[in-house]
Amino acid sequence: MEEVKKFKRIGVLTSGGDSPGMNAAIRAVARTAKHYGMECVGIRRGWQGLITSDFVILSADMIRHILGLGGTILYTARSEDFMTEKGRLKALGTCKMLGLDGIVAIGGDGTFKGALELSRLGVPVMGIPATIDNDIGCSNYTIGFDSACNTAIECIDKLRDTMQSHERCSVVEVMGRNAGFLALYVGIAVGATSVLVPEKELDFEKDVVEKIQNARLSGATHFMIVVAEGAGSAIEIGARIKEAVGIDPRVTVLGHIQRGGAPTGRDRETATRMGYFAVKAFAEGRSGSVICTQEGSIKEIPIEEALKMEKHLQMYRYDILEAISAPGINFH
Ligand code: F6P
Repeated sequence: MEEVKKFKRIGVLTSGGDSPGMNAAIRAVARTAKHYGMECVGIRRGWQGLITSDFVILSADMIRHILGLGGTILYTARSEDFMTEKGRLKALGTCKMLGLDGIVAIGGDGTFKGALELSRLGVPVMGIPATIDNDIGCSNYTIGFDSACNTAIECIDKLRDTMQSHERCSVVEVMGRNAGFLALYVGIAVGATSVLVPEKELDFEKDVVEKIQNARLSGATHFMIVVAEGAGSAIEIGARIKEAVGIDPRVTVLGHIQRGGAPTGRDRETATRMGYFAVKAFAEGRSGSVICTQEGSIKEIPIEEALKMEKHLQMYRYDILEAISAPGINFH
């Protein structure tokens, strides 16, 4: 029988854009490591920290009360150096020097590309998907998405109060990089007049002008247009609305506020589950995978395969929005 590799000390890092729930994942990794009799070292500033030997021993005190804390106590970065062989060899040196038997990397696609390269140098790795964009192909859900949605929804609800009072049009830009998951989810939840996403080619007349006109005809006196950052600039959309419809919209770019704040229950729970399963895999001698959620359950998908997987925006959600928002004059 093949002997199961014994993991005695592991590292954990967060890399790429931070997302609410990363701390919950760090805590779960460190506590599960303890459960299996492993030591856990925190690598600060993502892959860059592995190159520069920037580490901290994750003591019980360090991870106490971080379950509900936004951001990441380990800091995060996007490392150019790790993209070079020289950088990765230095990182390998740090793993050897610290006696790390494996690394849990928490982040998005860029983080997993780094993890794959490190695994090719012989370091066992496990990935945990965390990004507010929810744009990781292998996993239905990524840590931070729910929190970011709720933050955006709270902000837009506030905007709506003042837009309604002044009978204005609001154009709100939300994050999401090249994906429209955040914008569409938020748009449905705030009852947006229209949502513009990168996955759907913009027909300005149909998607914006007609939607505003229909909403007006059904009695609306204020309008909410949600723009995914990947679909274009809210400032430009606002200017086009002014020109085409003759109303003067107010533009808000929500920006990094969406990445902050306490994680929601869903993000804390998912992060804890994923952190646990990542370390359990090490304890059982497995590595080289991303911990994913698929139809609610946890799956381990080999990193190389995970990186090739695609996830498409569920267009039925767009259809729901089309059916419900801006119903037009026949509504009564
Ligand atoms: O990937 C998370 C994200 O917040 C994207 O939604 C956004 O496009 C990007 O990061 C912003 O990156 P930065 O923090 O470098 O400005």
